[in-house]
Amino acid sequence: MKIAVLTERADGESRVAATPETAKKFAALGASVAVEAGAGVRASIPDEAYREAGAEVGGAAAVAKDADIVLGVVAPDLALLKGAKPGAWVAAMFDPFRERSRVESYAQGGYEALAMEFMPRITRAQSMDVLSSQANLAGYKAVIAAADAYGRAFPMMMTAAGTVQAAKVFVMGVGVAGLQAIATARRLGAQVSATDVRSATREQIQSLGAKPVFVESVAGIEGEGAGGYATEMSEEYQQAQAELVSSHISKQDIVITTALIPGRAAPRLVSDAQIASMKPGSVIFDLAVSQGGNVEGSVADQVSEKHGVKIIGFSNTATHLAADASALYSRNLFNFLSAFWDKEAGRPVLDEEIGDAVRLTRGGAVVSERLKG
Ligand code: NAI
Repeated sequence: MKIAVLTERADGESRVAATPETAKKFAALGASVAVEAGAGVRASIPDEAYREAGAEVGGAAAVAKDADIVLGVVAPDLALLKGAKPGAWVAAMFDPFRERSRVESYAQGGYEALAMEFMPRITRAQSMDVLSSQANLAGYKAVIAAADAYGRAFPMMMTAAGTVQAAKVFVMGVGVAGLQAIATARRLGAQVSATDVRSATREQIQSLGAKPVFVESVAGIEGEGAGGYATEMSEEYQQAQAELVSSHISKQDIVITTALIPGRAAPRLVSDAQIASMKPGSVIFDLAVSQGGNVEGSVADQVSEKHGVKIIGFSNTATHLAADASALYSRNLFNFLSAFWDKEAGRPVLDEEIGDAVRLTRGGAVVSERLKG
């Protein structure tokens, strides 16, 4: 049973899908682990650390050769899988809704694509949930990046030369990233408010010491919705939300947007006119920029300035914290595969609930229900 870990090749991707810690744990289960030379370097993990953990380190072709399972952050191109066993599993992020041709190519290649983004949001899979682990770090990094771009301080400071006012931070979208953004901004001493369409978040916002700002005139989503996710809101709701945001945003110094709807473009939450109403020097961080953006005019990996307001958004925020992001992502993968480890078979055997949720391709066909629907 061979597990292969390749160097990530996507532009700007600094993470790695296994750390020495998880390589050692896979070895303890009886697997042999091979890691491509240099795979961990951008996450501050030298090849030597993998060797010390019992992994083999070599070139891409040698690493993929006869692999039963390939681990990736971003699913590798098929050319890199040449030499892996027929029907090998590839556990990685596939961006399945937008990268349909890649999914098709995995089917044609006969590989079993396991999309970590499709991990169900159920209690026993929490430790396997890569979206959560990466979003948590992204929420933190968004606040740090916004604070860095802001020409003022976050906490109130009373000095001999006078008082520095606390920054006002508004978080839009209070899922995993939004909750961490609130907590981080609070730790830095900002005055924080937050909004979401799911009414269940109101208490979560309050419990972090922030002020909830909610549309009251039109019903939002009660409870958690399907799989805990939001859906697209009615036009009436969107209108009410836009009015609410307009009156609130002009008083804010920092806005962090995190709103996503699975399988759809990110909802547009901040318009150019709303940006124009903010004070010069304010900063907006659009965490949804790679999914179309919550903010009008946000451009991935660029600081655009509109009406004196800086608008930032990284196409891949977690990669900016590559060491921690890799550590958590790798543990998610280990927790997933080890939970299903069959000692007799010497390999994981997935159950229906989780296996069917994450499996995109098998036996030459696309088998995911979410992609068929
Ligand atoms: P997400 O990344 O899909 O979306 C971020 C946030 O944006 C969500 O809170 C969503 O309600 C909000 N949003 C969407 N459209 C909006 C709009 N038009 N205006 C304002 N806000 C909008 O969500 P994420 O972070 O993946 O979490 C979704 C839910 O899943 C949460 O309830 C979370 O607690 C839950 N969850 C459950 C897990 C488990 O049980 N294993 C693991 C992780 C999350």
